[in-house]
Amino acid sequence: MAQQVRGVIAPGKGQPVRIETILVPDPGPGEAVVRVQACGVCHTDLHYREGGINDEFPFLLGHEAAGVVETVGDGVTEVAPGDFVILNWRAVCGQCRACLRGRPWYCFDTHNAAQKMTLEDGTELSPALGIGAFADKTLVAAGQCTKVDAVRPEVAGLLGCGVMAGIGAAINTGGVGRGDSVAVIGCGGVGAASVLGARLAGAATIIAVDLDERKLTTASALGATHTVNGGDRDVVEAVRELTGGFGADVVIEAVGRPETYEQAFYARDLAGTVVLVGVPTPEMKLELPLLDVFGRGGSLKSSWYGDCLPSRDFPMLIDLYSQGRLDLDAFVSETIELDGVEAAFEKMHHGDVLRSVVML
Ligand SMILES: NC(=O)c1ccc[n+]([C@@H]2O[C@H](COP(=O)([O-])OP(=O)(O)OC[C@H]3O[C@@H](n4cnc5c(N)ncnc54)[C@H](O)[C@@H]3O)[C@@H](O)[C@H]2O)c1
Ligand SMILES: [Zn+2]
Ligand SMILES: [Zn+2]
Repeated sequence: MAQQVRGVIAPGKGQPVRIETILVPDPGPGEAVVRVQACGVCHTDLHYREGGINDEFPFLLGHEAAGVVETVGDGVTEVAPGDFVILNWRAVCGQCRACLRGRPWYCFDTHNAAQKMTLEDGTELSPALGIGAFADKTLVAAGQCTKVDAVRPEVAGLLGCGVMAGIGAAINTGGVGRGDSVAVIGCGGVGAASVLGARLAGAATIIAVDLDERKLTTASALGATHTVNGGDRDVVEAVRELTGGFGADVVIEAVGRPETYEQAFYARDLAGTVVLVGVPTPEMKLELPLLDVFGRGGSLKSSWYGDCLPSRDFPMLIDLYSQGRLDLDAFVSETIELDGVEAAFEKMHHGDVLRSVVML
C-alpha cells in the first residue's frame, strides 16, 4: 500500500515551493523505497523551480541525499533493507552502446523508478533528477542506491550531486594531474568541490575565481593557492598572470553562463582543457570565433555529474573522507528542516551558503 509522507513540491514556474502530502508506492520490481535522512539544496533544484530544466510541473524537489533502504521490490539484489545509501541520479543500464563500450559514465539509458509518486489527488509528480528526496521517503530505481559505509548523512548526501559533480569535473572529466595548473570559475558548492578535486589530483596551482569574497575564503581553506575576485579584475588576465603568462592547463566553469564560459575558454593555456560543469538555461547562447576554437587546440568538455560512476566513486570518496583526507564537512553550511527549502534558495541566491542540508 502506498505510504503518505511529507514532500517539497514546486507547483509551477517561479512559484514558491511548499510542503504537501505525497503518496509513495510500495517498490515494484527493480525499485526501492528509501527513508531519507539528509538532502542538500542544490542550484539545480532552483533551476527546476524556475522552469529552467523543463515544464513537467509539479516537481518533487531534492536530489542530493543519503538515507536507509526501507523496502525493495522483486529482483533487487544490489541493496537490502537497512543499507545506508547515497542516492545517485545516473543508475547505469549496462546495455546501451556507451555501457557496452565500457564507458558506463556516459550511459544513455539510466534507470529511474517505473512507478510514479503522486499528490493525494493522484497528480503525478516529476522527481528532480529522478530522485525527489526533499521527502521523508522516496521511491527510486534500486540502482540509484549506492551502498557506502555509514558516515554523517548530511555529508554523504552531498556526494549524490554537487560535490561529486565538482570533484569529478576535476579528476574524471578534466583529467587534472600532478603539477597541473587549474582555474575554477564560480566557487559555490560545485566549484569548491572542484578545488578539492584538483588538490586531490595533485594540481600545483589552483586558482579560485568568484565574485563573492566569502566563497574565495572557503576555496582557499579547501586548497586554492590563489584567488581572483572577478568583480575587481579581468579574470583572463589574472589567470594568465598567475600561470606564467600562459593560462591554466584545465579551467572548470562552475557557474553556467556564457560570459564565464568565455572567460574559461580564454583563461586556459594553448591545448588546455575547458570543463563546463555549470548548467546553462535554454535561452543562453555562446558566440566564439571559430578560428580561436581551432587555433587554441585542446579540448572543450562538459561534465555531467562529474563523469562519475557512483559504484566506483562514492565508496572511494567516503573512504577518503573517513581517513580525514577529504574535507567534506566544510560543505555543510547549515542544517535545516523540510520547511526551510525556500529560505535556503534565498540564501543560495545571496551566496550565504555552500550547502544548506535538510535533515529528516
Ligand atoms: N553538471 C552537473 O552534473 C551539475 C551538478 C550539480 C550542479 N550543477 C550546476 O553547477 C552550477 C553551480 O552550482 P552550485 O550549487 O555550486 O551553485 P552556487 O549558486 O552555490 O554557486 C555558484 C557560484 O558562482 C558564483 N558566480 C556567479 N556569477 C559569477 C561570475 N560571473 N564570475 C564568477 N563567479 C560567479 C557565485 O558567487 C557562486 O559562488 C549550477 O549551474 C548548477 O546547476 C551541475
Ligand atoms: Zn547504459
Ligand atoms: Zn544537484
